[in-house]
Amino acid sequence: MQKVLITGAASGLGRALALRFAKEGADICVADINAEGSKETVTMIEAAGGKGWTAHLDVTVPEQWEALRHDVEERWGSIDVVINNAGVATGDRIDAGEWAWWEWIIDINLKGVALGCRTFTPMMKNQNSGYIMNTASLAGLMVLPSMASYNVTKAGVIALSETMHFELDAYNIKVTALCPGFFRTNLDKTMKTSDPSMLKFVDKVFEKSELTADEVADRAYKSLMKGELICNPHPIGRKAVFIKRYLGFLLRWQLRKASVDLKRRELEAKAKKNSA
Ligand SMILES: NC(=O)c1ccc[n+]([C@@H]2O[C@H](COP(=O)([O-])OP(=O)(O)OC[C@H]3O[C@@H](n4cnc5c(N)ncnc54)[C@H](O)[C@@H]3O)[C@@H](O)[C@H]2O)c1
Repeated sequence: MQKVLITGAASGLGRALALRFAKEGADICVADINAEGSKETVTMIEAAGGKGWTAHLDVTVPEQWEALRHDVEERWGSIDVVINNAGVATGDRIDAGEWAWWEWIIDINLKGVALGCRTFTPMMKNQNSGYIMNTASLAGLMVLPSMASYNVTKAGVIALSETMHFELDAYNIKVTALCPGFFRTNLDKTMKTSDPSMLKFVDKVFEKSELTADEVADRAYKSLMKGELICNPHPIGRKAVFIKRYLGFLLRWQLRKASVDLKRRELEAKAKKNSA
């Protein structure tokens, strides 16, 4: 039976990943700050024929990672899969929003992932085996306007995963960066933005998504088991990366157009505020 630890598994993609592993009969540690959601996930895992347990974890706190490593050692003695998936979102122009939101998102999305990797790599090195998946985003590959702090954390997770992919290859530890486009979860509920139109935009792209959370989880599972460096599950995401790599002029043209549109909307919003 595979021993699988998933952070952020109380909701959204983490829960879908837990249920995907449950189909394989895995034993799953649901690690999250949301105790109620974690319990629900375990109930769902059990209903799907798997086995699960909850662990309270705030991914930003090194001591809590240390306590979790201790619990895993006591309970399992070894570990097969670690998925650093917990994450939050921001969406703002570079000069908008609060500086504290940069610290918030870097602590969770980037340092939280690095802490998870640092905590469980020694155990995997001793075993000479293991799989690590770090949830990044298409946003880390395409780095589009108005999402600087989110983009930075996700590009950082890709850089971290690529570094580890080769650093740990000789230890038979496979490392994958998961880079999905948008799909419906609860990510918008905790998103921080000073721009109300951003939430409307996210709702629209969630609605239009080519994949559900379950479909992303299925593709992620297969990619992880193959030990791929990057999992880019959305067809539109693969097309975007192709265009960036081989037809960069087209993307740059689109982004310059988008910049003009962003400026127009910002000036309109300022004018409206001044006349109110
Ligand atoms: N939904 C999308 O469109 C999308 C696209 C690309 C990447 N992602 C990434 O997928 C991952 C999962 O997000 P989701 O979309 O399922 O959102 P979600 O909000 O449904 O789930 C996120 C989970 O992370 C947990 N979490 C947040 N902060 C935490 C902390 N400090 N410690 C422990 N757990 C914490 C939450 O409690 C929640 O259970 C995130 O890394 C997100 O950036 C999502």
